[in-house]
Amino acid sequence: SIYLVSAVVLAYLFGSIPTAVWFGQAFYGVDVREYGSGNAGATNTFRVLGPKAGAVVMFVDIFKGFTSTNLAYLIEAGQSTSNVQFVNYQLALGVIAVLGHLFPVFAGFRGGKGVATLFGMILAIHAPAALLCVTVFIVILLTTHYVSLSSIMAGFTFPFSIAFLFKTSIPSVLLYGIAICALILITHQKNIERLLKGHESKVYLFKNKKK
Ligand code: G3P
Repeated sequence: SIYLVSAVVLAYLFGSIPTAVWFGQAFYGVDVREYGSGNAGATNTFRVLGPKAGAVVMFVDIFKGFTSTNLAYLIEAGQSTSNVQFVNYQLALGVIAVLGHLFPVFAGFRGGKGVATLFGMILAIHAPAALLCVTVFIVILLTTHYVSLSSIMAGFTFPFSIAFLFKTSIPSVLLYGIAICALILITHQKNIERLLKGHESKVYLFKNKKK
């Protein structure tokens, strides 16, 4: 239907909004992809432009995922949708937004790694699991100071918590959760290589700890 097609196109376009690139260019005259890890994400914006800029990019990127996922309500407006179908649309739209974030039409298809956008999707679909993912993320970040490792562990928390803790009755949530883990491992390949070599850059949330 026209609703379905519109939701898919909008999810990709929302996901494609290159927050880190546009925010850096507009307010600092900097393309963050030319510095730090070269990634167009909240972490690298934090690294290159500081905590305030990083926080703005993080919130907008989360919002992109959250909003795109909820475009399932647009599809529902056009057709009768069962609960399971609705969640399936949410999952598909969230992943489409993440693909937009990875390959943004507005920034030469060179985007970020999709972590914040994925989080927005999980938040829209399963808030308790999202809360658990954030907790894992923060604990790993405060103890190791590696954002990439925190992202990977938080990503794995989603399917594991769905399978063993929340035990959802919708199998596609678990399937997508596993796909999300695979996607995070793929987008973090360089980070994983650096982590294994001990070369990954550390991020300190609080300035006084920076050396
Ligand atoms: O969200 C991406 C994060 O996990 C790693 O970012 O810039 O350190 O590669 P970065």
